[in-house]
Amino acid sequence: MTAADPVKVMKEEVGKAAAALVKSNSVVGLGTGSTTAYAIQYIGERLKSGELKDIVGVPTSFQAEVLAKQYGIPLTTLDAIAHIDIAIDGADEVDPQKNLIKGGGAAHTREKVVDYLANQFIVVIDAGKLVDKLGSSFAVPVEVIPMAMTPVMNAIKKLGGKPELRMGVRKAGPVITDQGNMVIDVRFDDIPDPVNLEKTLNNIPGVLENGIFVNCADIVLIGEVIDGKPSV
Ligand code: 5RP
Repeated sequence: MTAADPVKVMKEEVGKAAAALVKSNSVVGLGTGSTTAYAIQYIGERLKSGELKDIVGVPTSFQAEVLAKQYGIPLTTLDAIAHIDIAIDGADEVDPQKNLIKGGGAAHTREKVVDYLANQFIVVIDAGKLVDKLGSSFAVPVEVIPMAMTPVMNAIKKLGGKPELRMGVRKAGPVITDQGNMVIDVRFDDIPDPVNLEKTLNNIPGVLENGIFVNCADIVLIGEVIDGKPSV
C-alpha cells in the first residue's frame, strides 16, 4: 500500500474545514480548483448525512457545477436568489492584506462575480500560495474576447506587462473559458498597487475580467504539511 500524498491530504483537510463553516438554510458560492473540490465533496457528504439541510449552491464554473451535481448539491443561478451567504474558493497567491491572484483554472470571471457577492468569502489555500507581494510567483490571468487579443496584448505591454496566451494541454490550442474567451497570463516585474492595476487592466477594451481580487476575502484557511503531517 502506498502512503497518501501529504499535499493532497492537506488540501482535503482545508476543503473539509471550509465545508464545516457552511450552515443549513444558506446559499453557498462554490469555487473552482483542486482545493475547493474537496470543500464541494464535504458539503455534499454533510448534506447526505443530514447534518446540513436546505442549502443551494451557485457554481463558479462548469467544473464546479459538475462536481456539485456529482455530490448531490442542489444548484441555482444568480437570477433566482437575493444574496449569497458564504463562498468558498481557492487562490493562486494571497498577500498579507488578503488580496488575491486567482484564475489558475481560467474561472476568475465567474469566481469574481460570486465571491464578491458573498456575505462571507472563505479562501482555501496551501501555505505555498502566501506571498509578500502579488505577482511574485504567479502571472495575472486576464480574460479577453478573442477578436481583441492583439490590441489587448499591445496595451498590456505598454503597461509594462509581459503577456502570454494561455495554451491548453499539449499546446493543441488556447484555453477557452466557460464564456468562450481566451486567457492571457501577464507577468509584471512589480505590482506596487494591486487595487489600481485591477482597475487599469479591466479598462482595456476587450478585457472581460482579470484575476486580481482586492478587499473581498474574509477568512483565509491555510493548509501546511509539518513534519510530513497535514494541518490547517
Ligand atoms: C480557478 C482558481 C483556483 O481557485 C485557483 O487556481 C487555485 O486552485 P487550486 O486549489 O487547484 O490550487 O482561481 O480559476
